[in-house]
Amino acid sequence: MADLATTYMGLKLRNPLVVGSSGLTNSVEGVIACEEAGVGAVVLKSIFEEEITAEVDGVVASGQTPHMHPEAADYVRTYGMENAVGRYIALVSDAKKAVSIPVVASIHCVSATGWLDFAKRVEIAGADALELNVFVFPSDPESDGRVNEQICIDAVRSVKDLASIPVAIKIGSFFSGLAHTAARLSEAGADAIVLFNRFMRFDFDLEKMELIRTGHLSSPEEMYPTLRWVSILAGQLECDLAATTGVHDGTAVVKQLLAGAAAVQVCSAFYRNGIDHAGVMLEELGSWMDSHGYASIADLRGKMSQETSANPASYERVQFMKGSEQKE
Ligand SMILES: Cc1cc2nc3c(=O)[nH]c(=O)nc-3n(C[C@H](O)[C@H](O)[C@H](O)COP(=O)(O)O)c2cc1C
Repeated sequence: MADLATTYMGLKLRNPLVVGSSGLTNSVEGVIACEEAGVGAVVLKSIFEEEITAEVDGVVASGQTPHMHPEAADYVRTYGMENAVGRYIALVSDAKKAVSIPVVASIHCVSATGWLDFAKRVEIAGADALELNVFVFPSDPESDGRVNEQICIDAVRSVKDLASIPVAIKIGSFFSGLAHTAARLSEAGADAIVLFNRFMRFDFDLEKMELIRTGHLSSPEEMYPTLRWVSILAGQLECDLAATTGVHDGTAVVKQLLAGAAAVQVCSAFYRNGIDHAGVMLEELGSWMDSHGYASIADLRGKMSQETSANPASYERVQFMKGSEQKE
């Protein structure tokens, strides 16, 4: 039977299947269920900078404190933040006590440095690593793309200066120079890049004329952009890559590993099928490795990356050429 043990950001994992940051990992019970289902590691639900700010602003704006002095408002703001931070630190520490698989804490940052102190605290609480989910919405015509890229780079660099645990950065695909951004994140000290985050979508309700949230969970077809970019970036960077979005079965895990991923993060498939689906996916991964003669994850990792390909240009082909329609 193939050995599924591997390393991700220097952490030893019993297998490369990781439960991604989500509601599946926002409680100790959830984390225990993930471990029992057999996964290699968990990324805890992110603590959201905006979420906390909104929570605190809600207190300040609620009318409970109508004539609050600015200093008092600051106090409430700090107190509210402490509560949210304290709850999260407790989750990290309790989850660590409850399971033996690595526990990765996650911060959703909208600024590069607002969370530096917190990064140190999750390390002290016992987190094995930290994942930074940095996203600045590129909707401001006045904001240069390089500014947004620099926020990600600065976030990694500043946290790496402070923390001694491994640091991953989870990014979306909205970068015009994606390979360059990835290289700069790696140079800034990222131990891993997680690609690609999947964002909330909306639709229009045509009767109520308002926005409705839609498409909470991914479909298997969504994994192809990740597959392409993991294949292209693998071997070009010092850091590890973790694949996320659209991985729903063991075959998809095999593909992302062949592309060059060190770990594969899954959420939607576990929401759809239950966390025990992890066992099915791992079984499929092991069977594929056995039947194709791979004894270990290291043997197969990156075997289909662009770097190892006899036809590297095919990884960068994006336009439909004459004849390709008929093959669909
Ligand atoms: C309900 C739900 C909550 C999520 N919350 C977070 C989060 O707090 N932080 C984060 O980085 N990603 C979050 N994600 C994104 C997932 O970690 C993952 O990147 C995304 O769902 C794509 O993977 P999938 O196709 O396996 O679902 C969430 C996803 C879902 C479905």
